[in-house]
Amino acid sequence: MDGVNFDLKEEIRDYWSKRSETFDLAFGHRIAPGPEADAWQKPIRKALGPEPKRVLELACGTGEVTRLIHDLGHDVTALDFSEAMLKVARAKHAGKERLRFILADAENTLEPDASYDAIICRHLVWTLTRPEETFREWFRILKPGGLLLVFDGDWAGPKPTGRIASLLISWIDRLVGADKNYDGALSTRHARIMSALPFGQGLRPNMLLPLLRSAGFTDIALHSHAPIARAQRKNANLRNRLRTLVYRRFILACRRP
Ligand SMILES: C[S@@+](CC[C@H](N)C(=O)[O-])C[C@H]1O[C@@H](n2cnc3c(N)ncnc32)[C@H](O)[C@@H]1O
Repeated sequence: MDGVNFDLKEEIRDYWSKRSETFDLAFGHRIAPGPEADAWQKPIRKALGPEPKRVLELACGTGEVTRLIHDLGHDVTALDFSEAMLKVARAKHAGKERLRFILADAENTLEPDASYDAIICRHLVWTLTRPEETFREWFRILKPGGLLLVFDGDWAGPKPTGRIASLLISWIDRLVGADKNYDGALSTRHARIMSALPFGQGLRPNMLLPLLRSAGFTDIALHSHAPIARAQRKNANLRNRLRTLVYRRFILACRRP
């Protein structure tokens, strides 16, 4: 059995490391150029403004969101604790200026106090093992006035209307065979990790509000993920179009005052 004597964090790291080579093949991970990239980039552009900023991207994975932030002209530090993920990201972005990759734990970055104008992460918060401490850590490394921008979702189960989409996907899987590249959100290992996580029963924005406030964040605002899902559907096949309907997703922004 995988990771049988690992602690939770090692288990998470090992899980993503094993998925690093195929991660970009899975729908929802790779960000296609064109309407989808534009839709992901829009809230980032809006949050960061036109002036170049010093941005820390946490859990950069294979560097898909990294590209969007960097293309906007910002100075990016992209962090992940999986060397395998970073290897893919480094190769993808070789030779770019204003971009550095670091191997570190997003829950304990070891970055200096007040050193970033913004922190951005996609699909990290649901997998935090110590969210309270982690938000305090992110607050610490942001400059006063600095921004935290979170893209995430509730992956513990389909939203009520998503159940139908989920059912249709399983019928398609039965008819044409399972999609090997899909991220195995239902795999045994993923489910075992989920069950041990603080947000393993689900992640809703309202669960984050008290934690963010107690870390000191203010100006908490929620934004809809719907424009991104609409853009993803534009060039997707039926199975992937249905996938955009299964889970609740959200964009959350807040500030260190
Ligand atoms: C679902 S992937 C998302 C990757 C990327 N953010 C994206 O959206 O394409 C989760 C990533 O989080 C990283 N990760 C999970 N927990 C982490 C932690 N505590 N510190 C650093 N990276 C972490 C994993 O290694 C993996 O690359």
